[in-house]
Amino acid sequence: MTFQDTELIEKILQLKRQRNAVILAHNYQLGEVQDIADFVGDSLELSQKAAETDAEVIVFCGVRFMAETASILCPDKVVLLPDIQAGCPMADMVTAEKLRQRKRELPDATVVCYVNSSAEVKAESDICCTSANAVKVVESLKSKEVLFVPDQYLGHYTSTKTNKKMVLWPGFCPFHVRIQPEDIARLKREYPRAKAIVHPECRPEVIALADEVLSTGGMCRFARKTEAEEIIVGTEIGMIYRLRKENPGKQFIPASEQAICPSMKLTALERILWALKEMAFEVKVPEAIRLRAKVAVDKMLRVA
Ligand code: 13P
Ligand code: SF4
Repeated sequence: MTFQDTELIEKILQLKRQRNAVILAHNYQLGEVQDIADFVGDSLELSQKAAETDAEVIVFCGVRFMAETASILCPDKVVLLPDIQAGCPMADMVTAEKLRQRKRELPDATVVCYVNSSAEVKAESDICCTSANAVKVVESLKSKEVLFVPDQYLGHYTSTKTNKKMVLWPGFCPFHVRIQPEDIARLKREYPRAKAIVHPECRPEVIALADEVLSTGGMCRFARKTEAEEIIVGTEIGMIYRLRKENPGKQFIPASEQAICPSMKLTALERILWALKEMAFEVKVPEAIRLRAKVAVDKMLRVA
């Protein structure tokens, strides 16, 4: 670590205390960001942390929908997204208007939205889910028919684990689809004793070759517990940093170096300091939308 980095970190920590702020970081964030965060986790864990913190300011090191979820749950707190460009292309694949249209075509379906969606889409949905609890959420529903938005692959995986009729929105993560079944097959040949863990945003052909299908938080727990010493990891590349840091005796092999989410790399230390100085960019969901979106998020939190 350079002298400048140490100075930068000191300034962030000082300002964080002055502002009574908490720094939450997703598992895909840059290592330097994970290292100064108060809590690092998956989407579900981060929304639970946001809901329970008594800090006045939440600096959300992740992407916009995550900061919006924090704003939905904590309207009295200031939620900051250090880089306003940090969006999720998958979340942008469904709009509230298009969803309303589809709902009219499927009047009997219960709408389940992946947390990777805008607050407006959550407001149009019956219940929310994350990659950690999608199966549990869908199983909890009374209705036989489910409209799942926007991730077709998480939706498909969930449909294989439940007995609902699931209509899938055609969205996908442009970075998880870069992981190919050939990548897993080749690495399994190279590391015959390795376990392969993949995120449910991967294609079904990739999921079919995996030993475990896990959220990013699930991957951390699996890595700690498993007796396997070599683990092939099928998700966004940033995940590897935390897995290696927490499990120095094990080897983590990225399934594909191509699975990089550019939005997750926008938040550098300088931007966090800037966010705390300027109190920007504030993410605040308009009250009318927030109240409706909160119904879907709260329902999920009761199931999870
Ligand atoms: P997790 O909730 O598993 O961390 O996933 C979030 C995400 O955006 C995966 O691409
Ligand atoms: Fe969205 Fe994919 Fe990035 Fe996750 S990895 S935030 S799903 S674009």
